Amino acid sequence: MNILGIETSCDETAAAIVKDGTAVLSNTIASQIDLHKKTGGVVPEVAAREHIIKIIPVIEETFTKAGINWNDIDAIAAVPGPGLISALLTGTLTASTLSLIKEKPLIPVNHILAHIYGNWLDRTEEFKFPILILTVSGGHNDLILMKDHSEFELLGQTRDDAAGEAFDKVAKLLGLGYPGGPAIQKAAKEGNDLAYDLPIAKFNEETLDFSFSGLKTAVLYGVEREYGANFDPEKLKKDFVCNMAASFQKTVVETLVERLAYATDKFRPAEVHLAGGVSANELLRKKATEKLGEIKFPLRLSYCTDNAAMVASCAYYMFQKESAKYKTWKNIQVSANFTF
Ligand code: KG4
Ligand code: ZN
Repeated sequence: MNILGIETSCDETAAAIVKDGTAVLSNTIASQIDLHKKTGGVVPEVAAREHIIKIIPVIEETFTKAGINWNDIDAIAAVPGPGLISALLTGTLTASTLSLIKEKPLIPVNHILAHIYGNWLDRTEEFKFPILILTVSGGHNDLILMKDHSEFELLGQTRDDAAGEAFDKVAKLLGLGYPGGPAIQKAAKEGNDLAYDLPIAKFNEETLDFSFSGLKTAVLYGVEREYGANFDPEKLKKDFVCNMAASFQKTVVETLVERLAYATDKFRPAEVHLAGGVSANELLRKKATEKLGEIKFPLRLSYCTDNAAMVASCAYYMFQKESAKYKTWKNIQVSANFTF
């Protein structure tokens, strides 16, 4: 079964065709990074306008690369949320229009669950349930227990910033630019991660939730102590930036791995997976593997960050469970906080 996936929830205009949930026939991502670098982050309306310009060429390129045509497509998948409303609209409206014109079933896919399926792409091995997943991105930071396809339990989530959001904000205040995750990872390689003792959020009650806003504020205070309240991020010394980046990255990774280990002890899953943009982080992969043994994460870095192949994969397994549910829809209701 070939599914055309479409993804426009934030700043990537993406389309992909995936066969039977795992074989990626083509995967096209038009990144808006250069556009958003100018503002140091994503401006939703700017992202939305760019999606409108890019979506049709991206879909056309996806068909060309896969070497197939509409007769070979069995369903269309798109993301109604969570994400930026104005950005989501382009993908969902395109998908629902195509579904009506081409008379193909339309499968709405939750963006966070789609990230989980980044792990299925290009794999030939079977995974064993239950799977514990830390899915961690710019917009979300969740611990999820996957009991089977389409059976998910949310165990914990962030109470403020997601880890990726903290990476992006800290990178901005250290003058490292956008997107913050890869920039901090690079700077951290030249820094001393023991240079600054940054706080790990603790809760009074037993919980699998996260919090990163205190850590972000601690970095801000650290910069202000050194450079004063009116500091210019572009004028910080390289040593300082690298040491702070390394200390920050270490603290985020420790927080994530500690929670993941706690959840693993509590729920005894058959497998542990990492997903989402932050799962591209080398230190997170290394430390999680050291602590918990074998960890699965997306085989390619382009399957960690936003892409449409993960959307098509998730849709395939949803369709296998309940094919009768997915007709050609006229409209999909988008939602910034679409839940599952
Ligand atoms: O999954 P994604 O593309 O978009 C959302 O769903 O939010 O994730 C983007 C996030 C950004 O915050 C970015 O800084 C972070 O993933 N990220 C990383 C790395 N690569 C991307 N964070 C840490 N280390 C990385 N190597
Ligand atoms: Zn995402």
